[in-house]
Amino acid sequence: MIKQNRILYRCWQFYKALFPNLNIDLWQREKNKADSRLVSLLEKLGKAEKSHTLRVIELIEKDEGLDSSLKAELSDFALVHDIGKAITKPSLFFKVAKVILKLSSDAHCIAGCRAVWHLTHNKKLALRILKHHVKPNPDNFLKKFQEYDDLA
Ligand SMILES: [Fe+2]
Ligand SMILES: [Fe+2]
Repeated sequence: MIKQNRILYRCWQFYKALFPNLNIDLWQREKNKADSRLVSLLEKLGKAEKSHTLRVIELIEKDEGLDSSLKAELSDFALVHDIGKAITKPSLFFKVAKVILKLSSDAHCIAGCRAVWHLTHNKKLALRILKHHVKPNPDNFLKKFQEYDDLA
């Protein structure tokens, strides 16, 4: 049963990578909540990355078990966590291969960390972006974040 669910989940990820569905109005609203120094880079994300970002935010927002301050912090981080993909621009081939072969996602973490540090000098945010795919993650905030990121 678990294996069957895993296969279905992979198929769903595959479909989302091939056919992203972006709510432009929602994206515009969310994007404008970001640090103004990051907005132009966020806008360079591809359609699939923007829709993934909105799905992560939606999962966080509808989790009634989260207290409001943690929810706000997770939601703010979700908006920028994959900002490095605006630089690395993963190809469709890579996105599909990643789903099938579980390839490393390090490149966008490093690119995002460097860009955020360069643009904002926000060390905490830059380091969170750098480490957002580390597993197991020693940082409880990132461990919690991964629950949503991995489902979206
Ligand atoms: Fe990521
Ligand atoms: Fe992500």
